[in-house]
Amino acid sequence: MNVLITGGAGYIGSHCSRYFLEKGVDVTILDDLSEGHREAVKGGELVVGDCGDGALLDRLFSEKSYDAVVHFAAFTSVGESVAEPRKYFHNNVENMLTLLNAAVDHHIGYFVFSSSAAVFGEPVSLPIREDHVLDPINPYGETKMIGERMLADYERAYGLHSCSFRYFNAAGDSEDSSIGESHHPETHLIPLVIQAALGKRPPLTVFGTDYDTRDGSCIRDYVHVEDLASAHYLGLRYIMEHNVSEQFNLGSETGFTVLEIIRAFEKVTGIAVPHTLGARRAGDPAMLVAGNEKAKRLLGWEPAKSDLETILTDAYHWEMKRTY
Ligand SMILES: NC(=O)c1ccc[n+]([C@@H]2O[C@H](COP(=O)([O-])OP(=O)(O)OC[C@H]3O[C@@H](n4cnc5c(N)ncnc54)[C@H](O)[C@@H]3O)[C@@H](O)[C@H]2O)c1
Repeated sequence: MNVLITGGAGYIGSHCSRYFLEKGVDVTILDDLSEGHREAVKGGELVVGDCGDGALLDRLFSEKSYDAVVHFAAFTSVGESVAEPRKYFHNNVENMLTLLNAAVDHHIGYFVFSSSAAVFGEPVSLPIREDHVLDPINPYGETKMIGERMLADYERAYGLHSCSFRYFNAAGDSEDSSIGESHHPETHLIPLVIQAALGKRPPLTVFGTDYDTRDGSCIRDYVHVEDLASAHYLGLRYIMEHNVSEQFNLGSETGFTVLEIIRAFEKVTGIAVPHTLGARRAGDPAMLVAGNEKAKRLLGWEPAKSDLETILTDAYHWEMKRTY
């Protein structure tokens, strides 16, 4: 099977590309390296380019017959999307549209899409199931919702079958520490906790300690990046076998507060995490937890590594050994 993976030099895309290669898939990675890392590509062919470059896509899709596209390439910072929405609508919507058109023009039948928990906005019921209303509260979430809607229309009109995954908080790194999370600037809690503990950045600020949760700090759902990789493989196989389109929430059904993450890291490593307690940030829901029954039932997916100890251990080892 030949698969084009956009954004395959990024955090989640690199773990997924490696997993697909281990499964015997012929992988071509298309990444412009705007946020990704050449060192994160551990096999397959790397094409450095923009997934919104129609001429490049025409060339790639003419040179080789692809069975599917797995689309990770996007800008990913919620805060930046509020400050610079045009940047986000251009890359996450316009470039995705160019990619979709090229896929359809070249008769590629299957598309896997990195959506996000951000499509849900403020949850009205928990855990968040797939049929929860989509009501994003920032431009980043809007771009992901539009992506899902384009896919629904492209299936109806052109028969393109797709699988959209709404990840909650991707976390952890490869067990062998050869690839891992490397965002600049880093905005995700677990690397921030570890870098603060190692003195690589100032003490962490816990935003809000008066939420209606166990200890007053926000609850989030963490899913190991290698569990995300297996879900993408199962999801692609599923839509190819059944010729359908589906959306799945990917989380662990378990939420942890920010303070629980800090304490768990201290317990796993014995290293104290310097932190201060701060005020709430605008737009942070108290609790985001994914229901994952659908992915388990339809895909046979089991998050095997998404327990906190494994996530924190892998993330700590990556931070100690990281090469990019
Ligand atoms: N990290 C998370 O917790 C999380 C949660 C929900 C959804 N997502 C989604 O998952 C996907 C991957 O996220 P990530 O954390 O791995 O981000 P990342 O920034 O590490 O990876 C994105 C990759 O896409 C590349 N890219 C961006 N625009 C491109 C373009 N126009 N052409 C070619 N390559 C381009 C970047 O260079 C980078 O390598 C994104 O679509 C993101 O929105 C991530």
